[in-house]
Parts: sequence; C-alpha cells; structure tokens
Amino acid sequence: MSRWIVLVLFAGGLACTGTEGPAPGDGPLPGTGGHTGVGGAGTGGHYVATGGRATGGSTTTGGAVGTGGAGTGGAKATGGAGASSVGAYTDVPCDVAKILKTSCGMCHGATPSYGAPMSLIRAADFSKKARDGSRTVGQAVIARINDDVSPMPQAPTPRLTSAENGSLTTWIQGGAKSAACSDSGSEGTQPPETNNDPTDPDVTCYDIKARNSSGAKFSVPNTPDLYHCFSYAPPWGTDKVHLVSWRPIIDNRQVIHHWLLYNENSAVTDKTDADCAGAHPNAQLVVGWAPGGPGTTMPPDVGQDMSGAGFTLETHYNNTGTAASPDGSGVHVCVTKKLRKYEAGIHWLGTELILLPAGGQAAGLCSPSAKTPVTIISSTPHMHLQGRHMTTVINRANGTKETLIDKPFDFQTQIGYQTPTTIMPGDTLTTTCTYGGQAIYGEGTKQEMCYNFVLAYPNGGLSSGSLLRKNGCTGL
Ligand code: HEC
Repeated sequence: MSRWIVLVLFAGGLACTGTEGPAPGDGPLPGTGGHTGVGGAGTGGHYVATGGRATGGSTTTGGAVGTGGAGTGGAKATGGAGASSVGAYTDVPCDVAKILKTSCGMCHGATPSYGAPMSLIRAADFSKKARDGSRTVGQAVIARINDDVSPMPQAPTPRLTSAENGSLTTWIQGGAKSAACSDSGSEGTQPPETNNDPTDPDVTCYDIKARNSSGAKFSVPNTPDLYHCFSYAPPWGTDKVHLVSWRPIIDNRQVIHHWLLYNENSAVTDKTDADCAGAHPNAQLVVGWAPGGPGTTMPPDVGQDMSGAGFTLETHYNNTGTAASPDGSGVHVCVTKKLRKYEAGIHWLGTELILLPAGGQAAGLCSPSAKTPVTIISSTPHMHLQGRHMTTVINRANGTKETLIDKPFDFQTQIGYQTPTTIMPGDTLTTTCTYGGQAIYGEGTKQEMCYNFVLAYPNGGLSSGSLLRKNGCTGL
C-alpha cells in the first residue's frame, strides 16, 4: 500500500516569476513511505493522505480491451476493482506477474491507463514492437526500468527493487516465454477513491475540472503529449479563504497523465481553455497530481493561502486512441472563510544564479529572517527539462546537518513530498540542483530553474526579506 503513498502534492509555484508567493499545497505522505527525507522527528500522523479517486474506471471484464474511451463511466475503481480482466497475467511466471501487477498494472493493464501506450499482462506483449519501432517492448522495458531520467514505473510509484528488476530482466532476456501461473486477478490495482471532505460546517468544496466553454467535458484530441490549460475565476468569489483539503478527480483514466493547479496573480477569463506549454510566468503552483498520488488534508489548525486572482488547471493528456475522448478530470478543493489559526504558504528556496555547462550543479542558501520557529509541511522540487536531482539540507545553528529532501527529478512527473520538520532561528537551508544538459536560468521550459517550493507556516516564515518576491529565500 505504500504505493500511493507518495504524495503528490505539489505546492509550489511554477511559475516562475511570480512575485507573490505562494500557494500551497501540501502533501501528506502517509506515514510510511520512506519518502520523507527529513531527519527530524517526523511528525507523521499530522496529515492525512487520501487515496486518489478513480472514477471512471472502465469496468473491463474479460481482459479484452473493450471499452475504448468509455473511461468516464462512473464505476468507482476502488482498490483493485479497476477492471477485472478475467485471465490477466495467466501466462507469465508468478514472480513476474506479481511485479507487473503491483508496479505496472495501474497503467499498463488490459486497458492501458494514464497515457501508457501498451498493456503488459501477457507474455506476447513483450515481443511486440515498442513505440519507436526499433526494439521490442521487452527491450524497452529493460531500458526503462534502469533509466534514472525517465524511469518506469514513473513517480510517485516506487522503482523496482533490485531483486524485482533482476527477475523481470532475466525472464525477458530468456525470451519472455509463457509459463503457467494463473494469477487471474485484476489488471492492476487502482488507488481507492476516498472522500476526505471535512465535515466542518464552515468548509465548502468545489470541483475545478477540465471542461469546455459550455461546461461539458473537454474533448481530448488524440494528439500525443498534449498540455491543455483551463481557466477559472475563484469559485468562492473575492473573499479570502484557506485551503483545508483537496483530492484528485480522475475521470477518464485512459487519457489523463497528470495535472497541476496554479494560482494566477492577475485575473483570468473564466470558462476558457487553450493549449499551453508548461511555463506559467505569472502564477504559483497550488497542488498537483500524478497517477498514484493521494489527496491531502491539512492539520486542523492550518490552512493554505489561496489568495490570487484566478486559477489555471494545467492538464497533460496522452490519448493514445484513434479518436477524441471526453475528460472531466481535475481537483476537488475544500476551503473555509473561517481562517485557520496558522496560515501556511509556499516559500521559494533555491537559486536564480544558473549558468552551467552540461551536468552542472547550482546551489542556493536560504537564511530566514524570522525570529520564530517555522514548521515545514512539504517540499516540491521544481526544475525544467534538464533537471535531474534536488537536495535541500538544513544547516542547524549548532553545526549539524539534516537532509530535508534528496530526490531525483523528472519534469514529466513533478511531485511533492511530505517533509515535516521545524526550522529554528539561526538555522539555514542549502538547496542544490543537478542538471543533465547545459542550464541557464529562465522561465521557458528550455531554460532552467532551481526551486524547492516549501509549504510552511507561519506564511512568510522562510523569507529572507528578499525584494524579488514575497516568500523568496533564494541566494548564494
Ligand atoms: C503511473 C503509470 C505508469 C506505471 C505505474 C508504469 N508506467 Fe510505463 N508508461 C506510462 C506512460 C504514461 C508511458 C508513456 C510515456 C513514457 O514513455 O514515459 C509509459 C511508457 C512505458 C514504456 C515505453 C514503451 C515504448 O514503447 O517506448 C515502457 C517500456 C514502460 N512504460 C514500462 C513500464 C514497466 C515495466 C512498468 C512497471 C515496472 C511501468 N511501465 C509502470 C505509465 C506508467
């Protein structure tokens, strides 16, 4: 179960230039996970992560890829019920079946989901041609499970262990022969759909979903790797609110790959949508989701700052079918006008000084000016296409060092990690970004950034007093 545990939350602002700060998102990681790099006393149980919702699962029975685009039907895919393909995994060895089902099945089931191009359930699936035509799927599998830049499974699903990697590789290299194992279970476990709406009377929830100008589901063209942005005026009007929980709405899982929600500094035109490219110069990331990521509930006394003039839901679609397919995925957010005791906000750690040859590293020091303790909830690394790895280390005033986060980075699956700890006056934080190719600072996706968007309270607690932007804590 720790599979979805990884959170995905993103809070950060992608966008690059914003002057304002933050938007939070938080992310909880469910207690386990190992994902939390933090040294500190991990406060785990503070946050509750709820499972992602998979509505829409096509209830494919029979293993046949039956339901084409019908993904939106409604059947809730709870724990594994995503599709009960009778006969799935019947002719691969049992150890291989287990790996395929647990680590790949959410996406590469009888009906591929979340943009995955093919099924991985039968021995014959491995001798088919991979997308690029030059190798078999089996060869592509060996390459991708060892690819540290674009690994399979993709985050937040954990990578294979070396034992699992070895079993799968040995079987493929031996010809991916069929064997008898009737692991006829589901095509892969889908995260449970969990309702995490708070019951407090002052909390109101809203759906921010993909839709066209008349409110109907967005018709997703079968253009590969499509980034499409939907604009929304704040559904709660102009009053100040705090975000207290959110969860993903997964409608058509055959086409949705991931989404990010941004809070815009200037007004947007409600009910509009357009193709977009992944750069948001005038906005902050609020929350984000990738398959396997749960939702988040804030601690009872904390609310995330949502001030901003409007929202952009940026969806990444991968419709590998032959026709357009409707989707209404997005995010269910719950907010309150009764502001919580502590306001959390996104803080910008990292550096703007990036001018590097291929393979270089850039580092930024955050020296908070706050004279009070600051509670960190989550960290969301943000770089662009060349970003490969990020670490943030806490330099305690007494000379000891603790790792806040130490994670590989993939532009395609940006996720947040719960990194609970407390920063005391006198402590500083060093964020180091590693790049694959040449890296020059800028807002375009072909230029680079080095930000760890840290959700923490009090809002502004990790600011260095920079004039560049609110909650900025970047430096040399
Ligand atoms: C959360 C969803 C998800 C999971 C889990 C996942 N994949 Fe994928 N996979 C994708 C998507 C989306 C693509 C297409 C985009 C890409 O290539 O990165 C893909 C592409 C691939 C490709 C490239 C196919 C080609 O023809 O080039 C291979 C190989 C692959 N996956 C293998 C695996 C294996 C093996 C596992 C499990 C060990 C796995 N994947 C788990 C979503 C997933």
